[in-house]
Amino acid sequence: MSPAAVPTTPLTLGTSFLGARGDAARTAELADRLLASPHAIDTSNAYAGGRSEQHLGAAVHRAGGLRAGQIIYSKADADPRTGVFDRDRVLTSLEESLHRLEVDHLPLYHLHDPQPRPVAELMAPGGAVETLVQLREEGVVGAIGIAAGPREMVHEYVRTGAFDAVLTHNRFTLADRSARPLMETAREQGMTVFNAAPFGGGVLADPSKQEYGYRPLPEELVRWIERLRELARDHHVELAAAALHFSVRSDLVDSTVVGITTTERLRQLERLATSVVPDAFWSDLDGLGEPPASGTD
Ligand SMILES: NC(=O)c1ccc[n+]([C@@H]2O[C@H](COP(=O)([O-])OP(=O)(O)OC[C@H]3O[C@@H](n4cnc5c(N)ncnc54)[C@H](OP(=O)(O)O)[C@@H]3O)[C@@H](O)[C@H]2O)c1
Repeated sequence: MSPAAVPTTPLTLGTSFLGARGDAARTAELADRLLASPHAIDTSNAYAGGRSEQHLGAAVHRAGGLRAGQIIYSKADADPRTGVFDRDRVLTSLEESLHRLEVDHLPLYHLHDPQPRPVAELMAPGGAVETLVQLREEGVVGAIGIAAGPREMVHEYVRTGAFDAVLTHNRFTLADRSARPLMETAREQGMTVFNAAPFGGGVLADPSKQEYGYRPLPEELVRWIERLRELARDHHVELAAAALHFSVRSDLVDSTVVGITTTERLRQLERLATSVVPDAFWSDLDGLGEPPASGTD
């Protein structure tokens, strides 16, 4: 069976920090701006302990419902107390998400960060993945995806053929290309591919950040990113723009998921998206060779 189609926009706004920082008024304003933007929005049951979905739902309420064409994706998460990720948990997770978001349908619903548990457990008859498949058949969700980090595990889920979409993060950027094989498999299978965290969690947009993919930056990668910065300076390109365009221009990516923490970051994203990165930058980037290991698994 061919994968179900997933509505996408070239950029998706990531909301893992929504409700985790800032005061209530600013968070509400950010949620309103996210919803008013032309981009799809990515959230999950677990982001900010459920507050990401709550703030988005409050914005949906203030707007009198989702406008035509507005896209919000969410994700099923394991039970936050017990770590259980079974059929009942998927159903509860979805019920909570629909309630918080004030919607009755999701165009895409991911299995989120299942890595603590074996693939075989979640793929077992009557388990989490079979439940997602049933939800898609019933039409409660339009499509189902796998959204997680560890590349071997994500690749294994992709190969099952059960999913319509995959979301990989921090592993297809200027500084780490290790998700390419799993993205190629997803492409061959006709799946929709989301590439999240094009800034590696921030360091490729903000030199003061000392982490890559939420882990300390390896020394060798620090030196390689310095060479990358020099290359960007030589071409009069903002490194953040190059990092964003690396993902957006790739044939392997349907949508690039960028974390937005403030309304200012949203304005900056619009500027970065429309900035031009010259072709010569990309050919000179090839000259730097493959980046060293970033520490992602
Ligand atoms: N397992 C999963 O499903 C999974 C995992 C990871 C990510 N995701 C999704 O992908 C989204 C993006 O991930 P991410 O936020 O971790 O990584 P990211 O998009 O690579 O980095 C976002 C961070 O970069 C910084 N930044 C953004 N624009 C900037 C600019 N113009 N100048 C300087 N700094 C800038 C911001 O930091 P500050 O604003 O804090 O300074 C922001 O928090 C998440 O929100 C989530 O929706 C999903």
